[in-house]
Amino acid sequence: MTEIAIIGAQWGDEGKGKIVDWTSKKQGMKYVVRFNGGNNAGHTVWVGNDEYKFHLLPSGILHPEIVNIIGNGVVIDPSVLVGELDSIESRGHKVNLRISESANLIMPYHRVLDGIEGGKIGTTRRGIGPCYEDKVARRGITVHDLMNDGVFREKLLKNMEMKNQILTKIYDQKPLSTDEIFDSYSALSERFRQYVCDVSLILYEAVCKDENILFEGAQGNMLDVDHGTRPYITSSNTTIGGIFTGTGIRPNLDTVLGVMKAYTTRVGEGPFPTELNDETGKKIQEIGKEVGTTTGRNRRCGWLDTVIGRYASRINGFDELAITKLDVLGFLPVIKVCTAYNYNNKEIKEISSGINLEECQPIYEEWPGWREDISNIRNYRDLPENTKRYLSRIEELTETPVSIISVGPEREQTILK
Ligand code: IMP
Repeated sequence: MTEIAIIGAQWGDEGKGKIVDWTSKKQGMKYVVRFNGGNNAGHTVWVGNDEYKFHLLPSGILHPEIVNIIGNGVVIDPSVLVGELDSIESRGHKVNLRISESANLIMPYHRVLDGIEGGKIGTTRRGIGPCYEDKVARRGITVHDLMNDGVFREKLLKNMEMKNQILTKIYDQKPLSTDEIFDSYSALSERFRQYVCDVSLILYEAVCKDENILFEGAQGNMLDVDHGTRPYITSSNTTIGGIFTGTGIRPNLDTVLGVMKAYTTRVGEGPFPTELNDETGKKIQEIGKEVGTTTGRNRRCGWLDTVIGRYASRINGFDELAITKLDVLGFLPVIKVCTAYNYNNKEIKEISSGINLEECQPIYEEWPGWREDISNIRNYRDLPENTKRYLSRIEELTETPVSIISVGPEREQTILK
């Protein structure tokens, strides 16, 4: 039996989708479980020349023998869920899915409010924050509520009274129609009713039967609602603790795998000490095709920051790292790695809650690049010496061993160290 958690070590977009897809097959996973976030996530999986983009469905969904689970910690937009189900079924895939009846629903008013209020921090405008707000305020509507017309109508009416006041009186928007929302959500619910169940119970039984489970994190450590770069964060626990509350079981994790891109990217606003606002940053953006899967925004790019890597390893207890997109750096004669920050004229190596990342200047080490295409290499020993040196230095600085190296988007462009 194996239980693995896969968690982003940076600001999301580390390439977790590919690593989840690859690991779930390689390690014979029976379950792949999402526990946080919603369709703000964007996980891309390539199978040959076919590209699949998932926002809500777990990244094990292309393996029909794997039970894919959406846990209670996820927020669900029914129209996105149905869209993704239709899309993968129309491409000939059999859906093997379970959805927690306790998950909260993203409603149309959440999307409208996020569009108005989320601009300041550059949210994905998918309604994620307002939905989690309602969950914590104990007025959110759950999948379970939606499955019962009477309960759904009653809860919807209560919420609409309040939301329409906010929309019309505070934001000068048109009110939304309760009947229209009721009808469209009721129709959508019929498409996924068959998958709704008590996920905590299913996972408990899986644990009792010693079955293999993979927990798939969305976003990354630095976007965590508690441990990220507040206020430029998402609204869920993207870190290891999210698994406990977002699924309803106590996992017995054998491996916590941190996924870290060989450089750093960020979308939306917020501090980013190693950001490159120059030609090198632009080139990394182009070669790495760093465009948001969910919003289509260009991602900000910069050097690898091992201060945040070490912080992520501490918060999540990473046992191993998967380094992704290493091939992208092949054009560089010199590669910089941030090893510490200069903060108020002091050198610091650890992030703590009192530190404002906005005021941190990166301190770099410089390493010679390998200047060759490594995307066809499949064995660690065949990597150029300079590439191996870069990886060893990452291991030292993050105090975490590297076990997986990704040198391209396809499944087979993966090296097990
Ligand atoms: P929200 O999650 O839509 O509320 O957005 C809050 C912040 O998290 C914004 O800066 C988003 O760009 C960022 N964010 C949310 N989801 C992702 C993701 O999957 N990858 C990268 N950034 C994300």
